Amino acid sequence: MKMKTTVSITKDVSRKQPALSDIKTLRARARKHIEKGAVTEGYAAERETVITLLNEALATEIVCVLRYKRHHFMASGIHAAPVAAEFLEHAIEEMKHADSLAKRIVELRGEPNFSPDGMSERSHAEYVEGDSLKAMIKEDLVAERIAIESYREMIAYLGDQDPTTRRLLEEILASEEGHAEDLSSLLEGLNG
Ligand SMILES: [Fe+2]
Ligand SMILES: [Fe+2]
Repeated sequence: MKMKTTVSITKDVSRKQPALSDIKTLRARARKHIEKGAVTEGYAAERETVITLLNEALATEIVCVLRYKRHHFMASGIHAAPVAAEFLEHAIEEMKHADSLAKRIVELRGEPNFSPDGMSERSHAEYVEGDSLKAMIKEDLVAERIAIESYREMIAYLGDQDPTTRRLLEEILASEEGHAEDLSSLLEGLNG
């Protein structure tokens, strides 16, 4: 009885193991589909869906750039200087995120949507101006939390289907978590 169980487990494992193509086959396939650029036959994720998700993330990043820029220039009051500097730093980093997302969309043979029409509808995070330094920080923290949630969901959706996009989203997620941390400290500083 024990033997039988072991055998069936082994069989099951070998069946689930993804087949590895030899180099010759890989090269022939790559040559055949060379016009498809970075998207190869092994690409398992639903390409159109991934591109749509990445375009939503791109809109989110651009809205975040605009909101942080507005906050950077509008920050005033006794505590403003270090907070304004932090806003600018975040704006620059969100722009870098936007660029990496656009680059990945093109690699997937999609088109990055930079159109201002519908930008705020495509974005997960909102553009809220905020009427005080504290209100601005709070709004930015809300936006970062939304971004963190949506990147987590996208990463879970991708699973092991598209490791390159997944790695990119994980890097951005780590950066957004850093932003949320920065904002929480600024908020504590203002309260304390
Ligand atoms: Fe970002
Ligand atoms: Fe961020």
